[in-house]
Amino acid sequence: MCTRDIADSQLERWYSNCKKNKIINSTDDAGILLVNKDTSLTAGKYGPIPLTDHNLLQQLSHFHRERIPERVVHAKGAGAFGYFEVTHDITHLTVSKVFESIGKKTPIAVRFSQVAGNLGAADTVRDPRGFALKFYSEEGIWDIVGNNTPIFFMREPILFPMFIHTQKRNPVTNLRNWDMFWDFITLRPESIHQTMFLFSDRGIPDGHRHQHGFGSHTFSLIGENRKLTWCKFVYRTDQGIKNLDPNQADILAGQDPDYALRDLYNAIEEGKTTGNYPSWTFYIQTMTPEQARVQNFNPFDLTKVWPHNEFPLQPVGRFVLNQNPSNYFAEVEQLAFSPNNLTPGIGASPDRMLQARLFAYPDAHMYRLGANFQQLPVNRTITKVANFQRDGRDALLNQHGAPNYHPNSFGGPDVYPEAEKWTPPPEAVSGAIDYYDLGDDDNYTQPRVFWNRVLDDGGRERLVDNLASKICLANDNIKKRAVEVFSQVDQSLGSRLQEKLLARTVVHL
Ligand code: NDP
Ligand code: HEM
Repeated sequence: MCTRDIADSQLERWYSNCKKNKIINSTDDAGILLVNKDTSLTAGKYGPIPLTDHNLLQQLSHFHRERIPERVVHAKGAGAFGYFEVTHDITHLTVSKVFESIGKKTPIAVRFSQVAGNLGAADTVRDPRGFALKFYSEEGIWDIVGNNTPIFFMREPILFPMFIHTQKRNPVTNLRNWDMFWDFITLRPESIHQTMFLFSDRGIPDGHRHQHGFGSHTFSLIGENRKLTWCKFVYRTDQGIKNLDPNQADILAGQDPDYALRDLYNAIEEGKTTGNYPSWTFYIQTMTPEQARVQNFNPFDLTKVWPHNEFPLQPVGRFVLNQNPSNYFAEVEQLAFSPNNLTPGIGASPDRMLQARLFAYPDAHMYRLGANFQQLPVNRTITKVANFQRDGRDALLNQHGAPNYHPNSFGGPDVYPEAEKWTPPPEAVSGAIDYYDLGDDDNYTQPRVFWNRVLDDGGRERLVDNLASKICLANDNIKKRAVEVFSQVDQSLGSRLQEKLLARTVVHL
C-alpha cells in the first residue's frame, strides 16, 4: 500500500497556489540571470571545466556549507509558530506585558525535540521530549526552554555533561551503551523520579501534540513594588494525552522515523481547513517566599514537583500553533532558545540547574550559529535593540551611527528610568563559599507517591516491563544495583523488577 499525506504534497500546493503558469528565470546568488543550468562549462564536449564556470563553483561551494553543527542535545525536532492568548488575569503577580490584559495575544515559536539522538534519529524512541517556547513580546524575547516532564534527572549542573555522555554514543564503539546509561542512573538516585516517568507509558508520546509541557524549573514573577512570587509554568495538551506502545514505536521508527514531525506539520496544515489547530492550556503554580521557606522539600530542586493539592494549577492562557515554518533550516534549525531571555516581570530562581543554563545556551548558540544569532530573523526581537555590541560574522543590524561605547556624550542608549520597577527585590544570601553536595536530598518520597498513587496496576506492570527490557542489557553488577535502588522507592517495585530480570535470558555473543 502507498500513502500520501499533506506533507507529501507540499510541492503540488506551492505550484498550484502561487507559481503556476509563471515562468521563473534562474539566477545565481547575486540575482544575475543564468545562461545554462543543466550542464557545466567545458572546453570541448569531453574536455575539462574552466574556472570561469562560476555557476558550478558557486553551487558546489554553497552546497559544502549547507550544514551547521547540530545541537549537542535535542538535535532532532520539529517547530511551528502561533500565538499565546491570555484568558485569566495574573496582573497582581507580574508586570509582564504578555499577561497585561485578558484577550491579549503574543506571537510565539515552539520547538519540540528528542534529547539524545542525532539530527536524523527516529521520533518514536523512549526519551524525554524538549518543549521550548519563544514569545516575541513587546518587551523583548522571552524563552521558556522546558521539557514534557515537570522534573529532570539531576539537581546539580556539573553532572549534566556526564549524564548526556551516557545517553550519547560510546566514544570507542560509536554505539549507544546501556552499561553507561544504567551505571549513571543507579549511582545517582535523584535521577530515579525522572527515570520512572521515562519508562512509564508517557515515555513515548504519540507525536508532539499529545503531551503536556513544563517550564520545569522554579521561576519568579515580579509584580508591582518588586513583589516576588515563585512560579512554575505548565502547559497541558488540549488534544489529550496519547502514547505509543513500545512495539508499535519500534515499528514506526523503521517505517517513518519522522513520525512526530510529520504529524505536527499535517495537523497544522489540516487546521487551515478545519480551524482545529494544535493547542495547549497554559497554567502556573505559585508559591510565596514565605511558603518556600517552610516547605519540607527544596522548592528549587528540579528533581521534585510541587504537589498539586498544595500548589494548584491556575489557568492563565492558551497557545495555538497555526503556522508551519516556511523553511525548516531558516526557522527551526536556526531557532535558538535561551533560558536567560527573561523579560520584565519574569525572573530566575536559585535552582542550580537553571543558573547554569542561563550561561549554557547563549554560549552554545554562539558556537552553533555565531555571535549574532539573535539577529537571525527567527530569533530577532520585534523591539528595537539598542546596545554597544557591533560587528562579527553575519552582523545584520549595526545600529546605524549610534555610539558603540559608554559613557558617551552623543545620546547613546541609556537605561530605562523606570526599570527598577521590575527588578527582583534584594535577595539576602549567606554562607561560606564551598562545594555543597545535594545528592542525598530525599530522592525517594515523590517517586514512591508516583508508584503507589499515580500509576494504576496496568501502569505499574508496564513500567516494570519497560525498565526490565532495558536494564537487562546492562552488566550483572549494574542490574543488581538497579534492583537495590528501585527497591528503595518501594520494595514491591524492586522485587517485581528482579523477577522480570531473572525471567529474561541474556545471550552473550
Ligand atoms: P496528582 O496526584 O494531583 O496528579 C498526578 C499527576 O501525575 C498528574 O499531573 C498526571 O497528569 C501525572 N501523571 C500521570 N501519569 C503520569 C506518568 N506516567 N508520567 C508522568 N506524570 C504522570 O499529583 P501530585 O501533585 O499530588 O503529585 C503526585 C505525584 O505525581 C508526584 O510525586 C509526581 O511523581 C507525579 N506528578 C506530579 C506533577 C506535579 O506537577 N505535581 C506533574 C506530573 C506528575 P494528568 O493530569 O495528565 O493525568
Ligand atoms: C538544548 C544545555 C538542562 C531543555 C540544549 C543545548 C544545550 C543544553 C547546550 C543545545 C542548545 C542549542 O544548540 O540550541 C543544557 C545544560 C543543562 C540543560 C548545560 C543543565 C545544566 C536542561 C533541562 C531542560 C532542557 C533541565 C528542560 C527542563 C532543553 C531543550 C533544548 C535544549 C528543550 C532544545 C531547545 C531547542 O528546541 O532548540 N541544552 N541543558 N535542558 N535543552 Fe538543555
